[in-house]
Amino acid sequence: MESFDDIKLCKHKGEHLYVQLYKAIKGLIISGKISNDEKLPPIRKLAKELKVNNVTVVNAYHILEQEGLVYKKIGSGTYVSPDLFEYTYEEQGVSNSSGSLSFIERGQIQIQKDMINFASATPMSELFPVDDFKRALNEVLDRDGGHAFDYQESRGYFPLRKALIGYVKEYNISANIDSIQIISGAQQGIDIIAKALLNYDDVVIIESPSYTGAIASFKSRGAKIIDVKLLDDGIDIEDLDKKIRIFNPKFLYLMPNFQNPTGISYSRNKKNKIIDLCRQHEIYIVEDDYLSDLNFYSKDNTTLKSLDIDNELVIYVKSFSKIFMPGLRLGFLIAPAIFYEHLLFAKHSSDISTSGLLQRALEIYFTRGTWKEHIEYMGEKYKDVFDIMLKNIEKYMPPEVDFMYPQGGVNFWFRLPKGISSKNLYETAIKNNVAIAPGNLFFVHQNDDRHFRLSIASVNDDEIEHGIIIISNIIKNLIKEKNDSETREEIYKPIL
Ligand SMILES: Cc1ncc(COP(=O)(O)O)c(C=O)c1O
Repeated sequence: MESFDDIKLCKHKGEHLYVQLYKAIKGLIISGKISNDEKLPPIRKLAKELKVNNVTVVNAYHILEQEGLVYKKIGSGTYVSPDLFEYTYEEQGVSNSSGSLSFIERGQIQIQKDMINFASATPMSELFPVDDFKRALNEVLDRDGGHAFDYQESRGYFPLRKALIGYVKEYNISANIDSIQIISGAQQGIDIIAKALLNYDDVVIIESPSYTGAIASFKSRGAKIIDVKLLDDGIDIEDLDKKIRIFNPKFLYLMPNFQNPTGISYSRNKKNKIIDLCRQHEIYIVEDDYLSDLNFYSKDNTTLKSLDIDNELVIYVKSFSKIFMPGLRLGFLIAPAIFYEHLLFAKHSSDISTSGLLQRALEIYFTRGTWKEHIEYMGEKYKDVFDIMLKNIEKYMPPEVDFMYPQGGVNFWFRLPKGISSKNLYETAIKNNVAIAPGNLFFVHQNDDRHFRLSIASVNDDEIEHGIIIISNIIKNLIKEKNDSETREEIYKPIL
C-alpha cells in the first residue's frame, strides 16, 4: 500500500514505536489517504517493512481499534471504520491550539464580565426561581429539621421519586417508583451508566457531533466510541444499521430532541425506526433529554422513552440544569428493570446519595405544581431570545455559512465554508469580546475545524444583534483573506 511507504519510525525519538506508528496511521486515515473499509497491511508484512517487532504493529492497531478508527474482521484482517470522517476529510490544516483553545478543549471557558457569551449553554441566573425555591427550602427545614441533612437512600428520596412519576406522565412516559433513580445531574447519570454498563473495549455508538461530557465519560471507561453522522431529521439510519452490525455496541447514546450541539430534532419516523432497530438487535438506548421542554416550533418532541412502552430498551436521563438551576445538581434516570441494581451500585459508589435537602425541596416544588409555571416562564423568555437570534442570523450571517434551523432548545450550529477555520474564528471573536464554541469540541477525535455552536442560553436579548454582527464580520474577513490569498500572484525574482 503506497501511503504506508511514507511512514518513518525513529527509535531515538523518545516515543514508543507503537505510538509513533499509531499516530502515523491515524494521520493517514484522517487525511483520507486510506479510505473507509480499506484493509490495513497484515501485521507481519508491515512489521517486516518497517523493521519492527510484530508486537509494535499489534499495539498500534489495538489503539486504533480502541479509538474506533479501525475494526477487525475475524480471520480477515483490520479495516478502516466506515464513514468515520465524513466531516473531516476536507478539514486538514487544523490550526495549532493556542493557550485559550487548550483551555476550552477541556470544556471550560473564561468569560470576561462584558463579554457576549454565545459559548456556554448554561441558563442565566436571573431566570432562576430563587424565591420559590427559598420558600420550599424553608418549608423542608421547618418540617423535617435535622432529618433533611441525613444520608438519603441511594436510589433517591421516595416522595420525590413518587412526584416524578406524575411529572413524566405529562410527557407520556410511564414509570414506576423502582425504575426512577435520582442523580446529581445528568452528567453523573451518564457517568454511572458508563460505570454500570461498560467494560473496557465495549462499543458505544453516538451521534456525530455529540455532547462532550458524554464522550469523556465513555472514554474514561476505555470504551470504543463509534460515531454516526446526523442528518437534518436525525441520525443516519442506514449507517447506524451498518455500524450496529459491525460493532455490536453495548448501547446508543442519543439526544433526539434539540440535540446538543446541533439543535437537530429527530423526525417521528426516525424515532420509531430507532426503536425498531434496537429491538431487533437487542441494543439499549441511553436517551439524554436535557432540553425537550424548550419546544418552540417542533410539532413532535416525543421522547424515545415514551415509545419504549414496556420499559425494556431505553435508559432515560433527565437533566434539570437547562430549565431549572444547574447548580442544584439534580436529575433522574428511568431505567429498565434489568439495570436497577447495577445503576444503584454505581450511584452508591459515586457519591452515596444526592443531597437530601435539595431533593426534599424539589419534591415540594413538584407537588405544588410550581415547576409548570416556571417551565412556562422559561419557555416564554427563551422563545423571545430564540426568535431574535434567528432574525439576526438571517440578517447578518454571510450566505457562505451553512446553518440549519432548530425548532427549539438553545443551540445553533453552523458550518463554515471550506478553508475557513472555526478555531481562528473563535480566537478572533474572543479578541473582540465575543465567545463562541468551536466545533472540534463536539467530535470524538476533536479534529473538526469547520463548525461552531452559538448558544442563546447565556446571552441577553439586547446583546444578540451586536454579537452576530461581530461574528459575521470576522467570517467575512476570513473569507476575503482566503480568496485574496488564492488569487494573489506569487512573483519570484532572483536575489542578486
Ligand atoms: C446534552 C447534555 N447532557 C447532559 C448535560 C449535563 O447536565 P447536568 O447539568 O444535569 O449534569 C449537559 C450539560 O450541558 C448537556 O448539554
